[in-house]
Amino acid sequence: MTDLHTLQTTLLSAINTANDLTALDAVRVEALGKKGSVTALFNTLGSLPAEDRKAQGAVFNTLKEAITTALNTRKETLEAAALTAQLAAEAVDVSLPPLPLPKGTLHPITRVMEEVTAIFARQGFTVEVGPDIEDDFHNFTALNIPPEHPARQMHDTFYLEATSENGASQLLRTHTSPVQIRTLKEKQPPLRMLAMGRTFRCDSDMTHTPMFHQIEGLVIEEGVHFGHLKGTIENFLAEFFEIDDLKVRFRPSFFPFTEPSAEVDIGCKKSKESLQIGIGDDWLEILGCGMVHPNVLKAAGVDPATHQGFAFGMGVERLAMLKYGIPDLRAFFASDLRWLRHYGF
Ligand code: PHE
Repeated sequence: MTDLHTLQTTLLSAINTANDLTALDAVRVEALGKKGSVTALFNTLGSLPAEDRKAQGAVFNTLKEAITTALNTRKETLEAAALTAQLAAEAVDVSLPPLPLPKGTLHPITRVMEEVTAIFARQGFTVEVGPDIEDDFHNFTALNIPPEHPARQMHDTFYLEATSENGASQLLRTHTSPVQIRTLKEKQPPLRMLAMGRTFRCDSDMTHTPMFHQIEGLVIEEGVHFGHLKGTIENFLAEFFEIDDLKVRFRPSFFPFTEPSAEVDIGCKKSKESLQIGIGDDWLEILGCGMVHPNVLKAAGVDPATHQGFAFGMGVERLAMLKYGIPDLRAFFASDLRWLRHYGF
């Protein structure tokens, strides 16, 4: 019969010298596994005379318990050591000076969006988001542009082949106005919101890129009228262009989703070589706006009898070109590092 004392000593020493959890588990299997040395002892009990079994069983159990306890203790020690080592390896020295990495810059599009957000945030506007891939309802129908409406042609829409889950045709949003509908469906007025991001139209030449950016504004409150719209836009443009007495002109226009609608021009001086804002007798179109059409409110579940509001929309590239004197639209998306370093912030 195996010398129990020797077996215990050997196993305990193997346990206490196991260097990691894998080695320790190998010892466990060796001792307590199906074919383990301790398990084998128990298998001999059957061949003992019945009167000896109980006493011998107790002896084996004592050994088994000693081994189990030693295994658990060693396991805890090794786990703690592993954790300490991991923490040490992953430690970050926050006091280290930063590496001399080349500094990135903010793209003028990002910069303008941040500036516009800051101006409107002071007046309680929130920033809302909507998907680039829209459905027909949110991009057109809910904005009072029904299926056969000629305004759909003007948008040069990119349609997707795949339809949405409910079979509606999908498209790349042609403007940020669908976010008006999405937000109104979720939030109860009073509401002051901005929405900004990518928009898409199938158009590409010197002054158009198939992807461009818009900023949309929407205010829905009781008693809001055209005067509020005018004041909001005039203040915004003066602040954005940093010209206190900026000349601003509202021209009657048409958008299906606003009534009345206006296009807004700012005073400037155009010459062959340059364009200067804030001086001169010329005008430059800068944004579209109007009082929200009752059909739009209805489509978003708002009662036009109790609530009205105004909306406005503008192109971010145009704002950036004018404010920062960037001449070429297409360079915005060429990712030319020299351009990015020059015009970035
Ligand atoms: N969505 C319009 C466009 O893309 C702009 C706009 C927005 C006009 C809100 C009026 C009100 O041309």
